[in-house]
Amino acid sequence: MESEKELEEMTDMYLRDIALNFMFAGKDSSGTTFLWFFYMLCKNPLIQEKVAQEVRDVVGLNHKANIDEFVAYLTDAALEKMHYIHAALTETLRLYPAVPVVMECSTWPIYAMGRMPYIWGEYAEDFRPERWLQNGIFLPESSFKFVSLHAGPRICIGKDFAYGQMKIVSMTLLCYFRFKLVDETKIATYRTMFTLHMDGGLPMRAIPRTT
Ligand code: HEM
Repeated sequence: MESEKELEEMTDMYLRDIALNFMFAGKDSSGTTFLWFFYMLCKNPLIQEKVAQEVRDVVGLNHKANIDEFVAYLTDAALEKMHYIHAALTETLRLYPAVPVVMECSTWPIYAMGRMPYIWGEYAEDFRPERWLQNGIFLPESSFKFVSLHAGPRICIGKDFAYGQMKIVSMTLLCYFRFKLVDETKIATYRTMFTLHMDGGLPMRAIPRTT
């Protein structure tokens, strides 16, 4: 429809570039964040249980539900009520920003800024989803303080999409399974790339929920 209005600008090549841009910008960034999120949930089993409990409370179904019935409940309205999981994903992005450094006019050290006690207080290195919640409601910080999705005119345009995708997949997995690391002593380290990859991947056990 747009190409009928702007014949010169809206070419197939333009559409191809937009589609590729979304794939390159959206795939590894969300995939990597998801990996670190599950790492944090395995290292903090109580937080994993709180997330699973929120899924049960908001969706109103548990592991006994039929999967198709469960997925039908994952509406935008239900996703918006998931304050705890939103806080836990944001806390993951603070400590493990998928894009650890942005280099445009000057270098912007996203990874370092997410861990500075000067910015986040004494417990900056700890994984605490609660720091994002007030009376159970997610309270965002200024994007110039929480810089993992960049800020200002170049802020990530896929951020709501990324949260939506990550919520849907983790809500479904955590409703039906409990996750544990195959090697519970594993301390993850980084593989230096454009995005913040984990060295050696993350072998996990998925244990079907009975409670
Ligand atoms: C957790 C996942 C994500 C993270 C951490 C993330 C992070 C970022 C960051 C830091 C930037 C700024 C990069 C720069 O200016 O050098 C950015 C830009 C961008 N992101 Fe994301 N992103 C995520 C997911 C997505 C998704 C799912 C999409 C698309 C569906 C997307 C599309 C884009 C695009 C198109 C830009 C360029 C915006 C512009 O320059 O105007 N991102 N993202």
